Amino acid sequence: MNTYILAIESSCDDTSAAVFCNDVILSNVVANQKVHEAYGGVVPELASRAHQQNIVPVVHKAIHDAGITIDDIRAVAFTRGPGLMGSLLVGTSFAKAFALARNLPLIDVNHLQAHVMAHFIKEDADHFRVPAFPFICLLVSGGNSQIVMVHSHDHMEVIGQTIDDAAGEAFDKCAKVMGLPYPGGPLIDKLAAVGNADAFKFSKPRIDGFDYSFSGLKTSFLYFLRDHLKENPNFIEDNKADLCASLQKSIIDILMEKLVLASRQTGVRTIALAGGVSANSGLRNAIQSAASREKWEVFIPKFAYTTDNAAMIAVSAYFKYLKGDFCGQDAAPFARTEF
Ligand code: KG4
Repeated sequence: MNTYILAIESSCDDTSAAVFCNDVILSNVVANQKVHEAYGGVVPELASRAHQQNIVPVVHKAIHDAGITIDDIRAVAFTRGPGLMGSLLVGTSFAKAFALARNLPLIDVNHLQAHVMAHFIKEDADHFRVPAFPFICLLVSGGNSQIVMVHSHDHMEVIGQTIDDAAGEAFDKCAKVMGLPYPGGPLIDKLAAVGNADAFKFSKPRIDGFDYSFSGLKTSFLYFLRDHLKENPNFIEDNKADLCASLQKSIIDILMEKLVLASRQTGVRTIALAGGVSANSGLRNAIQSAASREKWEVFIPKFAYTTDNAAMIAVSAYFKYLKGDFCGQDAAPFARTEF
């Protein structure tokens, strides 16, 4: 029998709904919120309001694109956290109301685990490759930078994480200082492609173990620009591509150093990438070159499944559904959590 699962993701500024049938994705609809661009970052209250406007049309389209009707749905999944509380409440309340009205089981999903689970989204059964357990996942997004040891679909252990800013935040905040619009990560990536990555050097953190820190780099970048702008008010304009390339190299070097260390110390050589920053071309190249040097088998998800999306919530929910792991109508969202 076909098991259709409807999944909802609303943890930050993307409203998304997806339909999964057994272990295959049928639809994945994402509404991006443009309203934040003018503010240089996500404004929580505006995000909640936009989710309220988007949620019904997005769910409607996901069901339509899947070629099913509302009567076919057998379970409803939602992102319970972590994320922005106002945003999470929209998806959580919608999922609960849907489940209550249709008398369906509810499945709560951890957003960070779902980013890792994006590697198990099946589109085409004939060309499907999944990482074997245990594997190490570098999870890098706007809100998180973690090294995760993935033991199974539902047993994941954070072995390293940022003690301050996330890698995506470092991209976005440094981009803002250069006058680039939000989110700055993709623009830095684009400009870096035509810049000299060795033109400028920025400070590197000294942190024990597999943990990260990006706030020192951000400050060093800020002071570097401030000093040079005193001598040349056009310094940023004159050196934009080189600044982007050098900054991107610094962020990637920091990420790669700890990833290589984690792999060497644990002996795990199956490496996966997840989260919005995994779209970065420099990071993808760095992982591929480390792969031949370190004898890694590397897994990088399709771009659409690296940023926030409901398909990753649906695939996580599918494995919980198989175990009968449901939650009650009293499940409350959480803004912060560990695995
Ligand atoms: O996972 P994600 O969609 O959601 C949040 O964590 O909110 O990640 C978004 C982050 C942003 O910081 C964005 O600048 C970054 O991913 N990002 C990139 C690239 N594409 C997205 N950073 C560097 N290079 C990219 N190509």
